[in-house]
Amino acid sequence: MKVLLSSDQIQARILEMGKEIAADFQGHEPHLVGVLKGACPFMTDLAQAIDLPLTLDYIAVSSYGKATKSSGEVKLVKDLDQGLDGRDLIVVEDIVDTGLTLNYLINLLKARGPRSVKVAALLSKPARRLVSVHVDYVGFTIEDEFVVGYGLDYNERYRNLKDIVVYGG
Ligand code: IMP
Ligand code: MG
Repeated sequence: MKVLLSSDQIQARILEMGKEIAADFQGHEPHLVGVLKGACPFMTDLAQAIDLPLTLDYIAVSSYGKATKSSGEVKLVKDLDQGLDGRDLIVVEDIVDTGLTLNYLINLLKARGPRSVKVAALLSKPARRLVSVHVDYVGFTIEDEFVVGYGLDYNERYRNLKDIVVYGG
């Protein structure tokens, strides 16, 4: 499969994103909310790249299942462990595709009283957006291609690849 983003490229970009976030959140203690399972490698590397005190939590929502197109349906599968009252949230996503997942999550999390909500996504596919969602920190903007690796799956496989590759490409 064709390598779209090498491990070195991904890691270099995450270091930049971490510096930008640390500068923006100076004097605050951000609370990172990672979206299982795809965002796990990114969440780990991004958190280490942010030179600030911070806390982490995870949430899981239903995803594509076996298909490569979004059903448009989003369901909460695993909730957070901690409350969000007064916290400065950073929602950490692997990829923003149609935007439906993020739109659902932002509304859900905003209702729990955080002080602020920002979004960090490693990848964005703007060509496929169905709802407009603001992404504050984008790693890479990519074309309308289905990609796997570095947390991203097809039918639960390929999450362990170090690079991001085009599925079937
Ligand atoms: P959205 O709700 O359409 O924005 O989709 C978000 C979720 O769909 C992501 O968190 C991924 O789990 C999955 N997804 C979207 N595009 C891809 C892709 O190219 N490869 C793997 N998963 C994807
Ligand atoms: Mg996902």
